[in-house]
Amino acid sequence: MTEIELRTARPEDRDFLHTLSPRLSGVPGPPWHDLAAMEGFQSRYMAATFAAADDGAQTLIAWSNDGCRLGYVHMRPGKDGVTEEPCGYVSLLAVDKDAEGSGVATRLMAAAEEWARSRGYRFLCLDVFADNRRAVDFYKRSGFGSETIRMVKPL
Ligand SMILES: CC(C)(COP(=O)(O)OP(=O)(O)OC[C@H]1O[C@@H](n2cnc3c(N)ncnc32)[C@H](O)[C@@H]1OP(=O)(O)O)[C@@H](O)C(=O)NCCC(=O)NCCS
Repeated sequence: MTEIELRTARPEDRDFLHTLSPRLSGVPGPPWHDLAAMEGFQSRYMAATFAAADDGAQTLIAWSNDGCRLGYVHMRPGKDGVTEEPCGYVSLLAVDKDAEGSGVATRLMAAAEEWARSRGYRFLCLDVFADNRRAVDFYKRSGFGSETIRMVKPL
């Protein structure tokens, strides 16, 4: 069985991070947004996430012992929506299609949790499209609960 290892992302991982963007823009999203809108959102979101010079932010790459990159997580310091105390925020999580279901995201999220605990946070939070059931169910199994639900009415 392939072993999964984690390491901090390096500049040469940039293309890999971007090759997983279609995985993120292609998730089941709101029916009122087409694929082009989801791709535009993902592209702007990636640019903003990696442009922000945040010393506390971290990107971890999961890779197999035969040298293949499998997925990544990006986390950064955030602020709890209710108490405004500092907390951890998982901005991006994606796993290569071929590696899906083999525990890569579990490893990456465990590392994000460890990162948040090491910074003394009480909470780790994230946003996910409500129709992305696979991700929502994965987060629920990992101990996350819904806090706010954003409602949209197409006019
Ligand atoms: C959501 C995502 C990160 C999960 O990654 P993953 O590598 O499949 O996750 P893991 O293998 O660690 O765990 C997935 C769980 O689903 C199970 N699973 C396996 N195949 C599955 C399938 N076809 N459908 C649903 N669950 C499945 C696994 O057994 C595992 O169960 P467990 O938690 O009880 O152990 C991945 O599907 C992904 O990259 N999706 C596209 C991008 C995305 O949605 N990112 C999150 C945006 S917020």
